Amino acid sequence: MLCLKVPTDPRWAEAAARNVDAVLVDHAHCEMKAASNALSLAARHPRDLELVRALSEIAREEIEHFQRVLGILAARKLELGAPPVDDYAADLRRASADAWAATAKGGKLVDRLLVGALIEARSCERFKLLASVVGDASSDLRAFYMELFACEARHYQRLVDLAIHASGGGEEAEREVHARLEVLAVREAAIVRELGAAARPTIHG
Ligand SMILES: [Fe+2]
Ligand SMILES: [Fe+2]
Repeated sequence: MLCLKVPTDPRWAEAAARNVDAVLVDHAHCEMKAASNALSLAARHPRDLELVRALSEIAREEIEHFQRVLGILAARKLELGAPPVDDYAADLRRASADAWAATAKGGKLVDRLLVGALIEARSCERFKLLASVVGDASSDLRAFYMELFACEARHYQRLVDLAIHASGGGEEAEREVHARLEVLAVREAAIVRELGAAARPTIHG
């Protein structure tokens, strides 16, 4: 799916189906982090109006997702609580911090956008899986996950496009960004495989 190299381990969907409440709590935090990451990236690049506008639009949608998940938590009488550890996102950020990033055109910004794109792609895959294991076909939660599946897929594409823009645009930038995305997607696959056995009931567990 999208640029992903490996599908999620089926054990994850089983664990998630057994503990939907835990997934929802983690999900709320993921949406909040997605919004704050987009805004912090925008704040670091104030001279690039196109980037700032696109990232603030993503942040706006992530805040809306966050508020909707908060509504579901409230309806289920769940607390938001402290964020569960997200080894997946931390490992992915670490995997991107190498020499290539420092020397390439667009540097860190391009890598941060691509790491964000990969997180969107994986979240997107997971929302589709969640939609297949929660409730019945008419359930609100299932419809919500399918809506997010489509929205996070758009965010994935938007972030890849922004990475190309940040690399200077044009065909050469497009080639470079896709080559970099390929490298990061291979690393992402290794991280997902490693976390697969633990099958924690979190969005990226
Ligand atoms: Fe979202
Ligand atoms: Fe998103």
